[in-house]
Amino acid sequence: MNITFLLNGETVTTDVAPTATLLDWLRAHPQLTGTKEGCNEGDCGACSVMVTDTNGARSLNACILFMPQLNGKAVRTVEGMSDADGTLHPVQQAMIDHHGSQCGFCTPGFVVSMATAHLNGATDHDTQLAGNLCRCTGYAPIIRAAEAVQELPVPTWVNDTPHLGAQDKLAEAASFASLDDFADWYVANPEATLIAGATDVGLWVTKQMRDLEEVAFLAHVPDLAAIIDTGDTLHIGAMATMTDVGAAVADTLPSYAEMIRRYGSTQVRNAATIGGNIANGSPIGDNPPALIALGATLHLRRGAERRAMPIEDFFVAYGQQDRVAAEFVEAVSLPKEAAALRCYKLSKRFDQDISAVCGCFNVEVADDTVRSARIAFGGMAGTPLRASGCEAALLGQPWTPETIEAATEAMTSDYTPMTDMRASADYRMQAAQNMLRRYFHDLAGAPTSVLEVSL
Ligand SMILES: Cc1cc2nc3c(=O)[nH]c(=O)nc-3n(C[C@H](O)[C@H](O)[C@H](O)COP(=O)(O)OP(=O)(O)OC[C@H]3O[C@@H](n4cnc5c(N)ncnc54)[C@H](O)[C@@H]3O)c2cc1C
Ligand code: FES
Ligand code: FES
Repeated sequence: MNITFLLNGETVTTDVAPTATLLDWLRAHPQLTGTKEGCNEGDCGACSVMVTDTNGARSLNACILFMPQLNGKAVRTVEGMSDADGTLHPVQQAMIDHHGSQCGFCTPGFVVSMATAHLNGATDHDTQLAGNLCRCTGYAPIIRAAEAVQELPVPTWVNDTPHLGAQDKLAEAASFASLDDFADWYVANPEATLIAGATDVGLWVTKQMRDLEEVAFLAHVPDLAAIIDTGDTLHIGAMATMTDVGAAVADTLPSYAEMIRRYGSTQVRNAATIGGNIANGSPIGDNPPALIALGATLHLRRGAERRAMPIEDFFVAYGQQDRVAAEFVEAVSLPKEAAALRCYKLSKRFDQDISAVCGCFNVEVADDTVRSARIAFGGMAGTPLRASGCEAALLGQPWTPETIEAATEAMTSDYTPMTDMRASADYRMQAAQNMLRRYFHDLAGAPTSVLEVSL
């Protein structure tokens, strides 16, 4: 298929296979091999590129970015970071001045992530660079380099990225005229693989070497990414990225937002969508436990037919969801506020890691008595699952340590977790029970996060 995009300021039109990755495409061009291949699965950031569209600039991993996802957008690789006359980007100069590079393999990816953060005025450097792995230099000099330039102006050659006629061109490049057209097309082509952010599907291609016969890029479907705030409800379109969702819930659901901050990396959150995270039905996806605890409603669509369900009903069994052929996730709606919601993600690494256990709690207490309880876990069963027995042990009881202990006991009948490389079954059960104890102290105002504890 033919796509058109801007590459370091120059218009490129090229004929590509639908699942050709940007990384492979770049590395087939001798003058564009600055972008490196490390893991080829979104984990190391060596392949980071800056992608700009009408929503602004973001860093993405080129290894799991399919070429058609770039249609109508602007890409800047490490080769496009310096000026045409050779003047270095301030972050490049700072990396030299602060000794931020040794073997240099990771450096192009760092430079791209740092330049994108610099362009966006982001100064939370640890978070911005959590998706870039460096095995030689150590992070201190790199963070010092990022800090050194944060007040400097954005170079004109980066700021002046011309767009491809913005909205008009994007609409022109889009494959589907409307959401209705796409819904009809999917009914006629139910075997097609839907591609949202490709943070799962990308790995089917790069790691499992799968040939995907027919694909549809949801990025080309208008309106699917909208987030509508109705005052008391957030209606989040399936194509909203985790970056967008994190921003939408930051003020009113801060614990959910904090969990999202630890979801993959900046590059992964910039691509991964909430619809993809629900549709894949993974038992260790981070959104479903939070959405179940919030009592969210899932909106599915097939052709012109729509249906809605409590989100927990969607997850039927391991690898099985309540979704018929040609049906797709259109949106999810959730309460805008839930003061008692807390989300705890437990993973081996703090950043850029999949949860071993993810527990989300939403318990309402009035007059020291539990009035309602919604508790859900990821990593404890074949699907994201509500802790029904635990909830029943809390309901109507006094909100005391004794009730909490009884509820942790009840949890053992809710779940039979498995042992795998992330955690043993016993560890998972203990961790889940401890999360409930933590929740009790957390609601009482005690500092319970490792980030809050100081000597
Ligand atoms: C490095 C890395 C780190 C990660 N870290 C985390 C993490 O911390 N937490 C976590 O939960 N996940 C994590 N993931 C997994 C992944 O990011 C998520 O599952 C992601 O949300 C998938 O969304 P996507 O838009 O990329 O989906 P895609 O890869 O595009 O699609 C995933 C599946 O959903 C289907 N699909 C997509 N959209 C729809 C729709 N609207 N309707 C119906 N079907 C649809 C696709 O056909 C496919 O089967 C990580 C992945 C990587 C590569
Ligand atoms: S090569 Fe590691 S994230 Fe792309
Ligand atoms: S400088 Fe060698 S991996 Fe970072």
